[in-house]
Order: sequence, then structure tokens, then C-alpha cells
Amino acid sequence: MHLSSIQATASTVGFVPTMGALHQGHISLLNCAKKTTDFSVVSIFVNPTQFNDLEDYKKYPRDVEHDLQRLEAAGCHLVFLPSQDDIYPGGAVEKEYDLGGLDEVMEGPMRPGHFNGVAMVVHRLFQLVQPTDAFFGEKGFQQLAIITYLVRSLQLNVTIHGCPILREVNGLAMSSRNERLTPEQRANAATIYATLQLAREYWHNFTFTSEIKEFVVNKINENPYLEVEYFDLVEARTLEEIENIDEADEPVGCVAAYAGNIRLIDNIRFYS
Ligand code: PAJ
Repeated sequence: MHLSSIQATASTVGFVPTMGALHQGHISLLNCAKKTTDFSVVSIFVNPTQFNDLEDYKKYPRDVEHDLQRLEAAGCHLVFLPSQDDIYPGGAVEKEYDLGGLDEVMEGPMRPGHFNGVAMVVHRLFQLVQPTDAFFGEKGFQQLAIITYLVRSLQLNVTIHGCPILREVNGLAMSSRNERLTPEQRANAATIYATLQLAREYWHNFTFTSEIKEFVVNKINENPYLEVEYFDLVEARTLEEIENIDEADEPVGCVAAYAGNIRLIDNIRFYS
């Protein structure tokens, strides 16, 4: 089916952009899309412009056959597999997006140009698919905030939905990277979310951001399999760093930690 005929026949089109190597977390986004809209589209495109390292781009897991089987079993209406040329006709010309400074915190300094690359591909995918609704996981909390900002600033006609993080039984946030963890690393990586939950439980015992940061970082680092890169306490919408816990409006704690050389990210809301 041609994309334009979907746009003509379905009253709502729910779109889930992915880079493939699909796991249950991706399928949960598809399920959100199916619940909310008439017609679901999942794209698979490993986007070169969001990788800082060419080697990481080349090494990114690709298994389209397996992905297609999963999507079919999950009842996806259409899978979009664009070529490089569909997304970047004539080559990837760097386009600078205004991301409102949301790209300058947390993951931003660690991965220069990453969110601009995400903005490029998502903007182009939206042009091609023309969804009424698009679904992103809260796993990439910063990505979700940036896409929400982008859609507002470019006045794009698409509603962005954030969907909850799907977790393994031990609490570890699902990710294609988890496959690269040894069984010991995978078991110990559960400490990340367990610590975030403890921080939420003790939230009212903390006065200063520095206390909660110290608690989370020390607790995770006590586990010999893990090393925290950052833990930041930010406002959900603006991603501004929270100085004083009493003045926090919608606080979210975001963490990046290494298990060996595998970088894992997770986050938790401290509001309901
Ligand atoms: P990818 O890493 O494939 O993730 C696709 C979507 O799945 C993202 O919205 C991400 O937040 C969501 N996701 C990943 N793990 C999840 C989990 N455990 N629970 C719920 N949702 C989860 O994110 C990207 O691709 C790319 O940057 C993309 C937006 C496709 C642009 O290239």
C-alpha cells in the first residue's frame, strides 16, 4: 500500500519510529499506537546522522527479517523501511535545528550532534508518513522532550505521545544493548532501577539536590559491576536542573551508567 493512500483512508495514523533490533519495549509503543489510532505504521531506519561514532553505526544490530516477524505477530498495519536516499535525498546535508537548549544537558554533551541527527530523521519521517500521532518511549526521556519541543516550534500537525518504559523482570529497562551484557552484568544492572526507586521512596527525606545525587551515585557505584556517568535531577518539560527540591515542579531523575563498556540509561519520575 502506498503511504498516500493510507493518509486518504485512515482518519488517524499512529507512527512509531525505530532503528530496528526490536524488543518488547518497541512493541509496547506499537500497542499504544494501535489503541489510540486507526492505522499503525512502524519505521525501521538506522539513522547515520545520530551516531557520534561511525563504528557504532556500523555495529548497530540489524535483523530486519526478525523485526518484520515480530511486527506482523503484533498486528502492525504497515512497516516502513526507507532507504538512505528516501531520508536524505542527495546525501545527508547537515541541517541545524533549534532544540531550545534541551540538547545541551545530560546526553547532549556526551553525544555532540546526536539530537540534531534525531531531529533531522524524525522531521523527515514525519514528512513522509504524515502521521496524526507519533509514539516515543519515556526510556529516551530527553529525546521525547526534544521531539515535543521540535513539533511545537515547527508547528507540525502531529500529536506526540510518551509511553512508559518497559522493563525486564528484574527492573532493568529493556534495550537492544541488554543483549550485549554478560549474565552477571545483566543481573547487577537491576541495581540502577532499584536505586531510582529507593530515591523515590526517600524523596521527602532529602532537602538538597546534592543529597539525592550523592545517594543515587554512591548506591549504584557500590555495585562493582556498575559505574555512573551522570545522575541529573531535572524538570520534565524544560530539562532544567533542579536546585532546590522544595521548589521542584515535575522532577525526573535521569541516569547513565556503564556496565563494563555497555552504556545504560534509565529515569524515574518523582511526581505522579
Ligand atoms: P530506538 O532506540 O530504536 O527506539 C525507538 C523507540 O523505542 C524510542 O521512542 C524509544 O524511547 C523506545 N524504547 C526503547 N526502549 C524502550 C523501553 N524499554 N520501553 C519503552 N520504549 C522504549 O530512539 C530511537 O530508536 C531513534 O532515536 C529514533 C527516534 C527512531 C530516531 O532515529
